[in-house]
Amino acid sequence: MKKFSKVAALATFLSAGVSAGALHAQTAEVLHWWTSGSEQAALAEIRVAFEAQGGKWVDTPIAGGGNARAAAVNRMLGGDPATVFQFSIGQQLRELADQGLLADVNAVAEEENWDEKLPPLIVQAAKYDGDYIAAPINIHGENWMFYNKEALEKAGIEVPKSWPEFIDAAKKLEDAGIVPIGLGGQPWQERILFNSVLLGVGGREFYAQLYSTLDDELLASDTMRKVFETFAALKPFVDEASPGRNWNEATNMVIRGDAAFQFMGDWAKGEIIAAGVEPGTTVGCAFAPAVDTAYIMTVDAFAFSAMDGDEAQAAQQKMAQVMLEPDVQIAFNKKKGSIPALLDVPGDSFDACAQKAMTTLQDKETHLVSTGLFGVPSAVSGAIDDSISNFWNSADMSPEQGQEEFRQAISYAK
Ligand code: GAL
Repeated sequence: MKKFSKVAALATFLSAGVSAGALHAQTAEVLHWWTSGSEQAALAEIRVAFEAQGGKWVDTPIAGGGNARAAAVNRMLGGDPATVFQFSIGQQLRELADQGLLADVNAVAEEENWDEKLPPLIVQAAKYDGDYIAAPINIHGENWMFYNKEALEKAGIEVPKSWPEFIDAAKKLEDAGIVPIGLGGQPWQERILFNSVLLGVGGREFYAQLYSTLDDELLASDTMRKVFETFAALKPFVDEASPGRNWNEATNMVIRGDAAFQFMGDWAKGEIIAAGVEPGTTVGCAFAPAVDTAYIMTVDAFAFSAMDGDEAQAAQQKMAQVMLEPDVQIAFNKKKGSIPALLDVPGDSFDACAQKAMTTLQDKETHLVSTGLFGVPSAVSGAIDDSISNFWNSADMSPEQGQEEFRQAISYAK
């Protein structure tokens, strides 16, 4: 890990409030994939706070998480790193730390007592060799089901609690001429739907065991077969224009009532809020149908490239400090659709869906994480996405074949 003298960094960071010259020197290029309306609005809350404290923000948006992560890594390997870059904390970020590509923000983390203020799971995931390699800024949930209430009324259905109930409801929606599932046909989105089915059919223990062990017996199990059968049964419920669609366009289908349901992380709720809809009013939220209650957490974070020069390091420290300021945490997360990463930030001003997430997370039994946070190596993550997407987009692959391809892909990649 690129060690730089804490004293120098802290000195530069604390002296930033003095000279204008030094102020402007604190330029941070921020590379990220937040290009949707709500994502931009949320990020602007951080930018405004950073600039209010004398920082200079250079924005480098790159559409699509995969593209942005690849760009950040290529820039680092090419010797032209971005000062700060968005990355989901987890195994992939560790692989960058392994290569010595990252800087730490320990000075701020100590100053701001992150060890106490962040959930242990996030502290553990944001550290490498005891160093904070990322500033975690939120907790998103991946197993949400957003729905258009009018569409459900039109089809005379209730919010489904199990997948068999969902399939019955979807048939009634079809009869009523409403697209049951608004889905963006991209591998990462198909994986999010698949994981909600996996959790819903197998239960939280099975989900946790599967992704933390990648155990072949679980991959070959009858439970996994049932997961693929249920996933396959959902294929007829998306519209033909689904392939390639962006997630926020699918969210808009639910907001407009062109589709009844979207299975997506609560960044979709950011779009609902940005559209002027109070979550829980015309658009409702529930956890995807499941046999038990769980919350698949994914944590957005910003990481810091290893760079020479006190100015870049001071800008990185300032950015990390600003991102975890309670006011910024509230302003950012309210627009982003997520909940604060900080434990001691009051949640009472958040919407009903966020309240549901916060209440649920009080029970540690409900805590699950997305694959990256389970330490699944990036090669395996890629194989998981590809095999799920191949199955979803295949007209003739049987659930058995889909299961076998998933199993093979994982055992080959791990
Ligand atoms: C995820 C990220 C979310 C949201 C989503 C869609 O990877 O964690 O914050 O931005 O991509 O862009």
